[in-house]
Amino acid sequence: MRITMIGTGYVGLVSGACFSDFGHDVVCVDKIAAKIEALEAGRMPIYEPGLDQLVATNVRAGRLSFTTDLAKGVAGADAIFIAVGTPSRRGDGHADLSYVYAAAREIAEAVTGPCVIVDKSTVPVGTGDEVERIVREVAPDKQIEIVSNPEFLREGAAIDDFKRPDRVVLGTNDEHARAVMREIYRPLYLNHSPLLFTSRRTAELIKYAANAFLATKIGFINEIADLCELVGADVKEVARGIGMDNRIGTKFLHAGPGYGGSCFPKDTLALLKTADDAESPLRIVEAVVNSNDQRKRAMGRKVVKAMGGDVRGKTVALLGLTFKPNTDDMRESPALSVVQVLEDAGATVRAYDPEGIEQARPMLPNVQFAANAYEAADGAHALVIVTEWDEFRALDLKRMAGLLAEPVLVDLRNIYPPEEVLRAGLELTGVGRG
Ligand code: UDX
Repeated sequence: MRITMIGTGYVGLVSGACFSDFGHDVVCVDKIAAKIEALEAGRMPIYEPGLDQLVATNVRAGRLSFTTDLAKGVAGADAIFIAVGTPSRRGDGHADLSYVYAAAREIAEAVTGPCVIVDKSTVPVGTGDEVERIVREVAPDKQIEIVSNPEFLREGAAIDDFKRPDRVVLGTNDEHARAVMREIYRPLYLNHSPLLFTSRRTAELIKYAANAFLATKIGFINEIADLCELVGADVKEVARGIGMDNRIGTKFLHAGPGYGGSCFPKDTLALLKTADDAESPLRIVEAVVNSNDQRKRAMGRKVVKAMGGDVRGKTVALLGLTFKPNTDDMRESPALSVVQVLEDAGATVRAYDPEGIEQARPMLPNVQFAANAYEAADGAHALVIVTEWDEFRALDLKRMAGLLAEPVLVDLRNIYPPEEVLRAGLELTGVGRG
């Protein structure tokens, strides 16, 4: 199959690289010339484990190429994927679909033969219908079908998620489009990943419902964690205990500082807008969004409390800034709120992150950055783990205790067993460990 990917963001680039690795011919198109030049030179615009090798291998094999020229990119394509950004629109929280519609228009103008346009961007219900309207208006005589194919990959595990998904959701009622999509995803199907065909609107809603449900699981266990602290229970064991019930499942029950990232915060808000417009309130999702917003700042207050309530003139060492490990993505990271609260309370923050410092620097102008965890801790009055990078899982806690001016460890990801922390001579504050 000949595939064109419009947009080389997280989803576009990973999907394009993986499709080429399946043996398809893939052209990735992006308007930003610097990005395309960098990709052609083998430099990735994002940090994602394994992506550089995957891209290099497939470029070498002649199956993957990059261009800024959309018309050239779509020539002869069987399927053209739209994987452009859908940020929250400033002011009202609706998903901004202008990039999607602009891409649809350009594709419709440029294609010559019959093809399928596949929307991979996360878009509200009905977007596919609007894309279809635009395409029919621009190119009434061309044979173009529109499919919704939401992507569920996670940052940091993107390649594995793409190649071994729990399911592939494909929204279209058109037989030809179904055949094309079946062919594109055949390698996955052979790997036993089910292809779920639905209507286009249903596929669009599945993506938002999935993210909102996962956000709800996290929001739920986080509030249970708060309760655990007050009643003397351990949230890790509660999560294990409830997760063993297959109807609940063990995943996405890690209590922490609240969810962040480019998807959950944006998609839950966009879903609420859709619900609002349809006058079908989603009260549970509303509660999750509010609870998560409040939680991020509450984590800053938790640190202040662990430090005795007054942090003026004190230094806090923060480990992990990105919203999750194995990414350099700072979007909606809980660390941003934690830093804000600490700085408002008069503390100085010294932070270390394995990959996120470059992105964090402009967002956190008053933070000092350290070269490693021990340098961050040196002379600080508390050590706070915000993101569970692997390299923070086996810190030399005795050495940390020696470096810190006060023996305070706040573990917002519950990665350390309390006994180990106490043995090292540190006082532990976790999340939901009453
Ligand atoms: C998410 C969805 O998982 C993915 O399917 C969708 O395509 C995009 O959004 P991503 O944002 O990359 O992926 O990361 P994910 O691993 O889902 O984590 C999201 C946030 O939830 C992170 O801030 C993470 O720390 C937090 N989280 C996750 C928890 O606090 N507890 C958990 O148990 C799981």
